[in-house]
Amino acid sequence: MSDRSLQAIVLAAGLGTRMRSAAPKVMHEIGNLPMVGHVLKRVQRYDGAGIAVVVGPQMPDLVKLVGKLAPGATCHEQVDRLGTAHAVLAARDVLKQPKDDVLVLFGDTPLVSDAAVDRVRGGLASGADVVVLGFEAVDPFGYGRLVMKGDALLAIREEKDATEAERAITFCNSGIMGFRGTIALDLISAIGNTNAKGEYYLTDAAELGHARGLKVIAVSASEDDVRGINNRAQLAECEAIFQKRMRQDVMLSGVTLQAPETVFFSHDTVLGVDVTVEPNVVFGPGVTVEAGARIRAFSHLEGTHVGAGSLIGPYARLRPGAVLAADTHVGNFVEIKNAKVGAGAKVNHLSYIGDASIGARSNIGAGTITCNYDGYGKYKTEIGEGCFIGSNSTLVAPIQIGDGAYIAAGSTVTEAVPVDALAIGRAHQSVKPERAKELRARFAARKAEKS
Ligand code: UD1
Ligand code: CA
Repeated sequence: MSDRSLQAIVLAAGLGTRMRSAAPKVMHEIGNLPMVGHVLKRVQRYDGAGIAVVVGPQMPDLVKLVGKLAPGATCHEQVDRLGTAHAVLAARDVLKQPKDDVLVLFGDTPLVSDAAVDRVRGGLASGADVVVLGFEAVDPFGYGRLVMKGDALLAIREEKDATEAERAITFCNSGIMGFRGTIALDLISAIGNTNAKGEYYLTDAAELGHARGLKVIAVSASEDDVRGINNRAQLAECEAIFQKRMRQDVMLSGVTLQAPETVFFSHDTVLGVDVTVEPNVVFGPGVTVEAGARIRAFSHLEGTHVGAGSLIGPYARLRPGAVLAADTHVGNFVEIKNAKVGAGAKVNHLSYIGDASIGARSNIGAGTITCNYDGYGKYKTEIGEGCFIGSNSTLVAPIQIGDGAYIAAGSTVTEAVPVDALAIGRAHQSVKPERAKELRARFAARKAEKS
């Protein structure tokens, strides 16, 4: 299969009215990746694949997104929405110099598996001219029914055009279809619109192909693989299926999830072997956790790298640009953003570390705050190796603290601290012996006088 060239066409022109959204349907996310991105990923696996995306008019954000996710892809505008065959023809330019295989996928069917797409291409490789990805529907209502005769697919009948007998068929069209490149443009161009909806149905390629003596077949996938999304309830159902698959994959790859159903992943989360994830942890986009680390309960991570053997949380918040080396400890109610934390360093309680670097083995005391922002610019806090930052310190950036320095608890630090120095930045303490006792006597006498 790998030596066969591919042109993929992703249909995404629909407004998705039932989403009730200002954004095009295919931009809504599953696992923090827009659903069209999941479909693009399935075809980007094939080396040198041509990718065309059919978009609706006035969808500049979608065009921009496609440019970002699949830089080589072309976008084609379908001005009037006259049906799925009409949509494919919006990208007719890419069909003029045929690749071996043409694959048509729907942008709103994000859960399709690599294996299912491979099966469609396998059908083409084995000599079929048209291959439809079918599935057994629990409730076939609304789907195109696959009218089979043995291995041959005779026709696809849309719900509104189906006879009583055809409606009883439960083997349905997922919408994903493959065409032999040399016949695709000719066959799809010949499709008419004499049907209940007056639309150009891509599905008519089956009956038309069969009449022309082409080999038209169906291959199958599971229903979860081909679930389409029309509204936000279905979006949530697909999210749940996606999360379930991620949890399964992650556990089988050597990660312990204590309560899998409470852990949420992004499409790109990477966890090393022997990582343990406690309950109620959320992984936003761009997180890598190395071997043996433990993410404790109620932590939220995004755009973060966690080094091997580190201990994170409970209740830690790691934001984009947090890069933690091996064996770091980040404890409860600690927020870290755009900061490097060296090997073995500890930030265990109630701190904000932003735009900073912390050297290896440094200890950041409870309540330490890096003051990185003055309302206009962001500034860096650089803490060396083996430092000890006392509790409730306020580090006003830009600031450098040399290796091995001590900061006394409660200090406000505004000037650089040299290597191995002690900085104390707080008011001097004065103690007045017996003064509390005197005050108590005076206050009690005043109260007695009044009553
Ligand atoms: C389609 C199939 C049906 C299949 C079902 C699976 C046809 C005629 N019917 O029906 O057999 O069982 O999907 O979910 O193909 N689109 C455009 N431009 C258009 C029309 C559609 O880009 O003019 C896009 C939509 O954005 C969507 C996809 O094509 O991504 C499918 O269109 P939709 O109207 O949802 O088709 P269904 O009625 O669900
Ligand atoms: Ca649909």
